[in-house]
Amino acid sequence: MTKIAIFASGSGSNFESIMTQIEEGNLPNIEVTALYTDQVNAYCIERARKYNLDVHINELKNFPSKADYERKIIEWLTSEQVEWIVLAGYMKLIGENILKAYNRRIINIHPSLLPKYKGKDAVGQALESGDTITGTTVHYVDSGMDTGEIIEQWTCDIYTDDTKEQLEERIKVMEHKLYPKVISKIIQ
Ligand code: GRF
Repeated sequence: MTKIAIFASGSGSNFESIMTQIEEGNLPNIEVTALYTDQVNAYCIERARKYNLDVHINELKNFPSKADYERKIIEWLTSEQVEWIVLAGYMKLIGENILKAYNRRIINIHPSLLPKYKGKDAVGQALESGDTITGTTVHYVDSGMDTGEIIEQWTCDIYTDDTKEQLEERIKVMEHKLYPKVISKIIQ
């Protein structure tokens, strides 16, 4: 079994798609030790309850520095013997101590065809750009914002009458298939 931790800050639909694939037996060698979140009210916490999964809630504001905040995370990761970290809508950059401990063993999913539209509101950026194609990217995590080596990208159309919500939804449908596939390929 390879132990992974999933980090999320928001809704957690990607987190749930991974849990569903595990439950359905499609990731037979993956064990999620816990959901790690930095947001006390995030919906991903509700989703974790459905799977009786441990949740670590860790708020940056309770620590004197980001390094101290991450030290707490590393304590949990170490005690759970986590081997890989999967970011699924985690809204913080990973600091140097976690990066050092998990070199090339942290992945992220981002809703654009990187290197285009890094950072916040990638879907809005793509919509406003006039592009007719966008997509989603799974990549290794480095110290930059959505800058790590690309592992896999899937594309979808942008229609002229798309709302941001419609495009977001089209991308998420892809993400829920792509992320478990990549996890299966590179982690297990
Ligand atoms: C996804 O679109 C992912 O690409 C990005 O944040 C979003 C998270 O959505 N990093 P959810 O919380 O998994 O629904």
